[in-house]
Amino acid sequence: MTAGRTAAAAEEKLRQAQKMEAIGRLSGGIAHDFNNLLTVVIGAAETLAEALADRPELAQVAQVALEAAERGAELVSQLMAVSRTQPLTPQTVDCNRMLEGLLPMLQRTLSRDITVRLEPWPDPICCRADLTQLTSAMLNLCINARDAMPEGGRLILRAARQEGPDGPMAALSVEDTGEGMTPEVRARATEPFFTTKPEGAGSGLGLSMVYGFAAQSGGRLDIESAPGRGSRVTIRLPQALDAAPDPGATRLSPATPRPGLRVLLVEDDALVRGQVEQRLAELGCATRACADGYEALDALAMGGPFDVLMTDINMPGGLNGRQLAEHARLLIPNLRILFTSGHTEDPVLRTLGYDPRAAFLGKPYRRAELGRKLADLAAV
Ligand SMILES: Nc1ncnc2c1ncn2[C@@H]1O[C@H](COP(=O)(O)OP(=O)(O)OP(=O)(O)O)[C@@H](O)[C@H]1O
Ligand SMILES: [Mg+2]
Repeated sequence: MTAGRTAAAAEEKLRQAQKMEAIGRLSGGIAHDFNNLLTVVIGAAETLAEALADRPELAQVAQVALEAAERGAELVSQLMAVSRTQPLTPQTVDCNRMLEGLLPMLQRTLSRDITVRLEPWPDPICCRADLTQLTSAMLNLCINARDAMPEGGRLILRAARQEGPDGPMAALSVEDTGEGMTPEVRARATEPFFTTKPEGAGSGLGLSMVYGFAAQSGGRLDIESAPGRGSRVTIRLPQALDAAPDPGATRLSPATPRPGLRVLLVEDDALVRGQVEQRLAELGCATRACADGYEALDALAMGGPFDVLMTDINMPGGLNGRQLAEHARLLIPNLRILFTSGHTEDPVLRTLGYDPRAAFLGKPYRRAELGRKLADLAAV
């Protein structure tokens, strides 16, 4: 490459990075308030739909509102993935087993004309990543591969250990024998909203989400492709040094907490607080609700007792959720902690993966997700 072309390429990279940063700031900025609003809307619509069970025509209206709010929530979470601000709970993931776990899901989505081949790494290989998001990223790549092979073909899922500049990486790739990409398409493929699919068929957010996820997880995304020669898309993630995968990564816990679980709820937004209190009551929890950290500390100091502290991370005035959790642990060392937030940049999220007695729930969430998180936490 000539010096001029190298400089142009560097400039293009910088421009791309600045664009992604601007998108990140925009979506991160609106996400917090937007998520709080959607939490309330989803909660209200869920309650209405249930209360109106004997009025089907009205229940239907509540159901429509619920679905619309959930679509809004889905869009916000997609934008967060693109802008690398989505809530991630990294854990140690066994890459070979993760690929195997994709197979049943693929059988349901791929046509019979596509054969799937699994090429696991001969030795166990683990990476550190959010398992749910990694699975969804891999499925995203497989759907792209499927769409590139309308006449059928071969899809290869591969795990490999590679040496990266910053140490060993786990490389997870999806390879297809489809139509491939022109250099122009390849260059723009990770751009948000870029799609070559017909109107309504693709949002163009798939690869940009996977790109954002890989970057946020300390890894990267690489695309190799040529027209008529198929494509190989690879997610490279830092290899986990402790080889044993988290037991939680495969264990299935009950979907609802045990009856009477004692929850100390801390949420500064009164609307959200009321909603969550009601959700918790419906899940059979015994809840004490507080508007700020000091009130919560008082409740803890009075002797509770509580099984779980469920706290918003971002609270104005004095104690934020993380500080509250630190104080609370001094009073009850074994206390389970469930952080919630519409924001995802808090450093607390980076340490969560190491503390099995703490978890994170991104707003907005449905009652079922709340139930599962509480059940998971109580089970450790
Ligand atoms: N495996 C592949 N083979 C050929 N082209 C691909 C492949 N993966 C992605 N592309 C190209 O990159 C574009 C962007 O992909 P991306 O996943 O971001 O969006 P999409 O698949 O079009 O829509 P969405 O994923 O949001 O439903 C695609 O429209 C397609 O042109
Ligand atoms: Mg796609």
